[in-house]
Amino acid sequence: MGREKFASRLGFILISAGCAIGLGNVWRFPYIVGQYGGAAFVLLYLACLVLLGLPVIVMEYAVGRASQKSIALSFEQIEPKGSKWHIYKWFGMAGNYLLMMYYTTITGWLLYYFVKMIRGDFNGLDSEGVGAQFTGMLGQPEIMVGFMIAAVTIGFAICMQGLQNGVERITKYMMLALLCLMVVLAINSVVIPGGKAGLEFYLKPDFGKIREAGIGSVLFAAFGQAFFTLSIGIGAMAIFGSYIGKERRLTGEAVNVLLLDTFVAFMSGLIIFPACAAYGVEANAGPGLIFVTLPNVFNHMPLGQFWGSLFFVFMSFAALSTEVAVFQNIVSFATDLTGCSVKKACAINYPIIVLLSLPCTLGYNVLSFIQPLGAGSTVLDFEDFIVSNNLLPIGSLVYLLFCTANFGWGYQNFEKEANEGMGISFPRSSRLYVTYLCPLILMCIFVQGYIATFA
Ligand code: PHE
Repeated sequence: MGREKFASRLGFILISAGCAIGLGNVWRFPYIVGQYGGAAFVLLYLACLVLLGLPVIVMEYAVGRASQKSIALSFEQIEPKGSKWHIYKWFGMAGNYLLMMYYTTITGWLLYYFVKMIRGDFNGLDSEGVGAQFTGMLGQPEIMVGFMIAAVTIGFAICMQGLQNGVERITKYMMLALLCLMVVLAINSVVIPGGKAGLEFYLKPDFGKIREAGIGSVLFAAFGQAFFTLSIGIGAMAIFGSYIGKERRLTGEAVNVLLLDTFVAFMSGLIIFPACAAYGVEANAGPGLIFVTLPNVFNHMPLGQFWGSLFFVFMSFAALSTEVAVFQNIVSFATDLTGCSVKKACAINYPIIVLLSLPCTLGYNVLSFIQPLGAGSTVLDFEDFIVSNNLLPIGSLVYLLFCTANFGWGYQNFEKEANEGMGISFPRSSRLYVTYLCPLILMCIFVQGYIATFA
């Protein structure tokens, strides 16, 4: 039996972009940019995307396409006999679960904000009032848990429908709608009276800010964000490789995904920062940033409630499409490994994901005394740190080494797979770079990031 394939190329690009584009672009990107000083950080982030991220997406796709398997079996399929690369699958899987442990909470916030928008809860509120709505939500565990469960339920419901019916059909339209809406909102924000200081913060690099925050931690943050937004390092992209045919070279597909992803993140910054300046929201407000900024934007826009509701639906879909992609990976892991049915794998994983998501959800209220990364930090911060700054970079390093080292799959095999089909080929000249320099840069940023953050 052949493996299920995407119905169309657009379907593949959008769904793979659908996995990449999610909270990372719209929620995480602006809040990290806000915390690490704006435009100068953005430059470092772009450098990490292209220099570290791009080669790794191509590698994940290649491993997926060559093995025709999810991370549960992909290494076994193509690693040299007797080698132990496949042990990484357990870390990759842990990464998928850990990511979902907080992703579902934030997706729940989006769903809740959609409901609040429709109800008109923000109408007429000033910035302070909008901020109070957010803190109010954090203090109500029953609401947070309810919407988190909704986020998990919708995700699994879509996942059960299978790839083409469930995922591809819906994601396509929602992603396109989100892209258009983001452009409208960005234009609206750029001309907000009083927003200029925000635009400057976002677009005019001030390297003094990086020195203030310490170059080590800023780079560490930029690199974490790059891996997070591209979904690389835990096999989440690799699985899409296993669903595409050999018609197209993988580098071109990776470039498309990277461009779409960056476009959305960039728009998100354009929407948020002028609004922060205009409505008196601190750019370094942390994970709540978009939730305390955006309702202000809608409050000052003609037909704001309408735009706001649209934004939160599309955005919920973007988050859900990422969730579904990761669930798909989790489910394939179970089916590939045990041979059980998709239904059974969903039924078992559904309650597991709900339970695992509770610490993050409750970390804002009932469990707020747990502050794993120091005073004021939350369970979410901790889980995110483990995923973005540890599992994703280390996993990316594993893919890099696997695809370039002779004791792994090896460069020749990788190049052959990546270059099969039409489109942009993986540049020959980058062989030395990806084999030696890229892993080295990655390790240096990682080690000095730890030193800078914890010393
Ligand atoms: N890239 C996704 C986002 O931006 C998050 C993600 C990370 C998904 C790692 C899968 C794996 O929302």
